[in-house]
Amino acid sequence: MLDCQKALFSLQEGQHYLNCAYQGPFPKTAEAAGQEQILLKAQAPFNIGKSNFFDPIEQLREKFAKLINCSEPDRIASIPSASYGIAQAANNIHLKPRQNVILLGSQFPSNYYQWKALTDRYMAGLRIVDSEWHDENPGKDWNQRILDSIDQYTAVVAMGHVHWADGTLFDLEAIREKTRAVDALLIIDGTQSVGALPFDLEKIDPDALICAGYKWLLGPYGSGLAYFGPYFDTGDPIENNWQNRKDSDKFENLNYQAEYRPKAQRYNVGQQSNFIYAAMMNKSLDLLLEWTPEEIQRYCLRLTRPGLAELSALGCEIAPESARASHLFGIKPAPNMNEQALKQHFQDQNVHVSMRHGRVRVSPNIYNDEADMEALLNAFRAAALGV
Ligand SMILES: Cc1ncc(COP(=O)(O)O)c(C=O)c1O
Repeated sequence: MLDCQKALFSLQEGQHYLNCAYQGPFPKTAEAAGQEQILLKAQAPFNIGKSNFFDPIEQLREKFAKLINCSEPDRIASIPSASYGIAQAANNIHLKPRQNVILLGSQFPSNYYQWKALTDRYMAGLRIVDSEWHDENPGKDWNQRILDSIDQYTAVVAMGHVHWADGTLFDLEAIREKTRAVDALLIIDGTQSVGALPFDLEKIDPDALICAGYKWLLGPYGSGLAYFGPYFDTGDPIENNWQNRKDSDKFENLNYQAEYRPKAQRYNVGQQSNFIYAAMMNKSLDLLLEWTPEEIQRYCLRLTRPGLAELSALGCEIAPESARASHLFGIKPAPNMNEQALKQHFQDQNVHVSMRHGRVRVSPNIYNDEADMEALLNAFRAAALGV
């Protein structure tokens, strides 16, 4: 059983940070690795050798592959943002006019605009499958409605493993099965789940998995990782940089080269070796692999369960455990709780959460403890008393 890992982070004392879905804090090891890389470039740029360009990013590929249970690290590309990874995928998809792309209601904008542009370009359909926002359980029936929407005209389903605003869980294995039956691609945005929620690539087998790295991967803003499956092996990348080509590690003979490095290596962002980011992300992934997403879910569930039961008793609405993640969930305040007052109580208690779609989005992680939950509860208790 995993204990609280707060000591491994530099989070300020007295602050109750329950918002990893907004920004994941750096572990101390990542912080130190970043500082070391800054000093290397400041003091000894001549010591940045060939291995700095290739080794840390290769290690990162291997670690991320392990985290998602992927046996081919060559299928992992370095990306600067989720929108970049989604653009790499969408730009290699050609639609026919009667085909459609399925997205979820209120999907994160970075996983919407590119699909809107693609379907506009081909005059194809953009099908948004929304929840009915049942008060007691927004995810109820949503999975079924997604399955029902996939038909012979569906070319792509692009969605998350959890909904970014309220943590609704999606049954990706069932959705994959349906997409396969109609020959549709499945593109997953794992930004709000991978790192904290188990993702089994072998079981789900998506065509692509795109993750911004600054939340649950505890990496720097501007870093991310993506998996691209065999469908994309012969695709065109959105940029052409030297490092993605065959033999780019042969600095002495670097020249024009028609062939790409294997599998997903054509989709790496230019300057994928970003020394500072790669060093930091490597340290964060070391910890995630040690903790494991399974244990992070268990930890978050144990930490939040008693408090959430109390909030339900106060009249707040929270989806049942089976329908939502434990690292990210929405709390709809009870009708007698004034939203402005509640926000003020969060501020007074130094509680950091986000308001998303009429719910308080709470996203704990392995560094949170009972004191953080108590502060969250105190804010709701005060709002319930109408103070
Ligand atoms: C589901 C999801 N995807 C992606 C992102 C970030 O997108 P990008 O990396 O394009 O800034 C966020 C940020 O909140 C998110 O919640």
